[in-house]
Amino acid sequence: MSAKRASSKKSGKSVQSQIIDGLTDAYWKEMETVQNYIAASSNLDGVDADPIKKALAGDITEEVGHAQQLANRIRVLGGVVPGSMTFKASQKNLQPTKDSTDVVAVIKGVIEAENDGIAGYMKLIRLCDGVDYGTQDLCIALMTDEEDHRREFEGFLKQYKKR
Ligand SMILES: [Fe+2]
Ligand SMILES: [Fe+2]
Repeated sequence: MSAKRASSKKSGKSVQSQIIDGLTDAYWKEMETVQNYIAASSNLDGVDADPIKKALAGDITEEVGHAQQLANRIRVLGGVVPGSMTFKASQKNLQPTKDSTDVVAVIKGVIEAENDGIAGYMKLIRLCDGVDYGTQDLCIALMTDEEDHRREFEGFLKQYKKR
């Protein structure tokens, strides 16, 4: 038994079930991102909206794919993919704004959501180290996608800061 496994026993939960919990959190984050990116890409108006809408539309497909890969991994580890009744929303800064032309609010909300996703994957990557390389590999790939998304939206924000 590894030191990691032994120490986790004290906290009551096996590393495997902590990993399943982490994957479930990540799954919900992806699902909420999909909801809010669909809403934001639909709600935005104005001449500046188009590139943001297009970027969000592309990301939506990727985030759905992330959720599916996480769901598959939860099953591989013996967990159950939850239904919608256990969903708890948290992306306060991605709610529709009063001003539907406020692209900066959407950009900032997206960067925050991506950062939150990245932080969750980092935690999982550390938790999986030496214990579960399959999940670790998946989380590294998904985190890299989120870093790409974040970079794109940081670029958008840079442009608005110059104005
Ligand atoms: Fe994602
Ligand atoms: Fe993303």
